[in-house]
Amino acid sequence: MRIVVIGTGYVGLVSGVCFSDFGHDVVCVDKDARKIDMLNSGKVPIFEPGLDQLMMRNVEAGRLRFTLDLTEAMEGAEAVFIAVGTPTRRGDGHADLTYVMAAAQEVAKAAKDYIVVVTKSTVPVGTNRKVREVMTQTTPELDFDVASNPEFLREGAAIDDFMKPDRVVVGVETERAAKVMADIYRPLYLREFPIVVTDLESAEMIKYAANAFLATKITFINEIAALCEKVGADVKQVAKGMGLDNRIGKNFLHAGPGYGGSCFPKDTKALARIGQENASPMMITEAVIAINEQVKRRMVDKLLDLCDGSFNGKTIAIMGVTFKPNTDDMRDAPSLTVVPALLGGGAKVRVVDPQGRHEGEHLLPGVEWLDDPYAASEHSDLIVILTEWNEFRALDLTRIAGGMKTPRMADLRNVYSAEDARNAGFEGYSSIGRP
Ligand code: UGA
Repeated sequence: MRIVVIGTGYVGLVSGVCFSDFGHDVVCVDKDARKIDMLNSGKVPIFEPGLDQLMMRNVEAGRLRFTLDLTEAMEGAEAVFIAVGTPTRRGDGHADLTYVMAAAQEVAKAAKDYIVVVTKSTVPVGTNRKVREVMTQTTPELDFDVASNPEFLREGAAIDDFMKPDRVVVGVETERAAKVMADIYRPLYLREFPIVVTDLESAEMIKYAANAFLATKITFINEIAALCEKVGADVKQVAKGMGLDNRIGKNFLHAGPGYGGSCFPKDTKALARIGQENASPMMITEAVIAINEQVKRRMVDKLLDLCDGSFNGKTIAIMGVTFKPNTDDMRDAPSLTVVPALLGGGAKVRVVDPQGRHEGEHLLPGVEWLDDPYAASEHSDLIVILTEWNEFRALDLTRIAGGMKTPRMADLRNVYSAEDARNAGFEGYSSIGRP
């Protein structure tokens, strides 16, 4: 099948590359000439493990190419995926649909034969109907269908999530569109990954409901963790005991410094907004958004305790500033709350992050970037594990503690234990939800 993907951001690029790996003929289109040039010279503009090799394999096999020219790309295409950005709009917290609608208009102008226009970007309920309206207004005689196909990719595990999904969700209005979508995903179908075929609104809703539920699950365990600290319980044990109940499940019960990233913060806000507009307030989601901010601020208090009530004059080594490991993404990362508070309090901050420096240099002015955890912690007053990169999971703690001025550790991802820290010579250790 010939497939066009508009937008070579995270979702568009991963989807385009994976569809071509299914054997489809894929053309990825973007307005950004710099990005297209980069992709055409074999470089991936984002960091995602395994994506560059998979991209090159399919480019070399002649199934994948990149262009600025939508009209040319659309020649013979059966489906166009819109995977452009939907940032949170300033002021009202709404998803900004400008790019989605502009893409729909361009598709309507460029299409000649029947086409399925698939929205992959996360969009508010009702957007696919608007896409249909915009297209009909632009080219009234065009034969087309719209479809909603939300993605459930996690950054850092996107290829695996695409190739081995828990499910594929497809919202359609006609049998004809359902058939095109089934053909696109047939390779997964044959491997028995379930495809949920439903109406447009339900498909749009599934994405928001799933992300808000996961954000709630994380926030719930973060709240339990805070209580565990007060009553002397261990949140890791509590999560294990809860998670073994199949109805609860063990995933997304890791207490930490608050969720971040490009999805949960944006999608929870958008869902709360949709609720307000439809006079059906999403009270749990609204609470989750507020609590997550508190969780991030509580991390600052934790560090302050370990610094005897003042950051002034302290040297603090931060391990990890991206919102999670295996990404270079710092959007809504807890580090953006924690690090400025340390700097504002008069601390000297050193940062180690395997991928975060590029974005971090703009977002965290005033910190010193180092490549080595041991060098960063040398003569420091506090080491903070903020993102659980593998590089920070097996540190020689005795060596770290030996080189520090005052060996204290804030383990905000519960990678180590109080016993590990004590045995290594740390005089202070604090983690999340544990004695
Ligand atoms: C999330 C969803 O997991 C994907 O299914 C979805 O497709 C994606 O959003 C999206 O909407 O595009 P992602 O934001 O890449 O994916 O990352 P996650 O692995 O879900 O982590 C999100 C945040 O939650 C991170 O800050 C992570 O540290 C935190 N987290 C996650 C916890 O604090 N505890 C956990 O148990 C799990």
